[in-house]
Amino acid sequence: MKVAVLGAAGGIGQALALLLKAQLPAGSQLSLYDIAPVTPGVAVDLSHIPTNVEVKGFAGEDPSSALDGADIVLISAGVARKPGMDRSDLFNINAGIVRNLIEKVAKVCPKALIGVITNPVNTTVAIAAEVLKQAGVYDPKRLFGVTTLDVIRSETFIAQAKGLKVEDVQVNVIGGHSGVTILPLLSQVNGVTFTDDEIAALTHRIQNAGTEVVEAKAGGGSATLSMGQAAFRFCMSLVRGLQGQTNVVECAYVDGGSEHAQFFAQPVLLGRNGVEKVLPYRALSEFETQARDSMLDTLTGDIQLGTDFMK
Ligand SMILES: NC(=O)c1ccc[n+]([C@@H]2O[C@H](COP(=O)([O-])OP(=O)(O)OC[C@H]3O[C@@H](n4cnc5c(N)ncnc54)[C@H](O)[C@@H]3O)[C@@H](O)[C@H]2O)c1
Repeated sequence: MKVAVLGAAGGIGQALALLLKAQLPAGSQLSLYDIAPVTPGVAVDLSHIPTNVEVKGFAGEDPSSALDGADIVLISAGVARKPGMDRSDLFNINAGIVRNLIEKVAKVCPKALIGVITNPVNTTVAIAAEVLKQAGVYDPKRLFGVTTLDVIRSETFIAQAKGLKVEDVQVNVIGGHSGVTILPLLSQVNGVTFTDDEIAALTHRIQNAGTEVVEAKAGGGSATLSMGQAAFRFCMSLVRGLQGQTNVVECAYVDGGSEHAQFFAQPVLLGRNGVEKVLPYRALSEFETQARDSMLDTLTGDIQLGTDFMK
């Protein structure tokens, strides 16, 4: 298994690389790329950890060597939020970065599974799809917006609010990855009930959890360690799917024929080709139905922005 991390010298990239070096299956290769000159050094640093995962680091303008033979490509290259910014403020810089990197992925490893972490995910995934289409290699089963951070935050906050063991909490988060487009399906969490007030408060906290971190870091960036863990969890699920394990399910933002938008986050069964099947989620509560319907203008606008960028 070869995993390439693009943006590997950044806050997310380094946390993710550490987890992958420690826990990818023995014999795997980890390929780290970033424009930052420190990247080969990050790889040397990680290479001293005694696991059977080979690490190589690449810096400079061209990620091609890092991408050669990759089965999975995770992209966290770009700029992160500062206080007062929302994810859409990152569009002007990150759109071009994602476009350029995906152009290389399309050339060098068109069959790789691609996980886009760079914000605004609602839009950068649409850009990635257009680049792959223009290169004639688009396979919707292989492109994912990584929304796992919304899932792990939901698990944590629900367990805290209800005094549960966090490992017993399973929750789907649907829609997209920003503000009102993040919709945790609290009505479907097994073994707990919430009052209307609790649902409103928890939903609001999950939707704004990224801003909680941005403000707490006071100009020092956005979520990196929890995002590293989230991307690691998602990557390991991709790995298990590629290895042929059955019943590997994660929520992700995919082009999966949703009736609501071209790209929509929902539970996905993962397998040897990426998406085996986009799974339905159960009937929504009245609160969730209203929240889903009222997010759609924002979500489709975000997607259109990505498509228009590529025109
Ligand atoms: N999907 C999510 O849930 C989620 C959560 C948190 C953050 N993010 C996003 O992830 C991205 C990275 O966040 P971070 O905190 O790691 O930022 P960071 O600034 O710490 O790291 C970004 C890295 O990208 C590199 N980079 C910039 N342009 C590049 C290019 N053209 N090619 C290769 N590398 C390049 C930088 O050198 C830097 O090392 C941001 O866009 C952030 O908004 C997503």
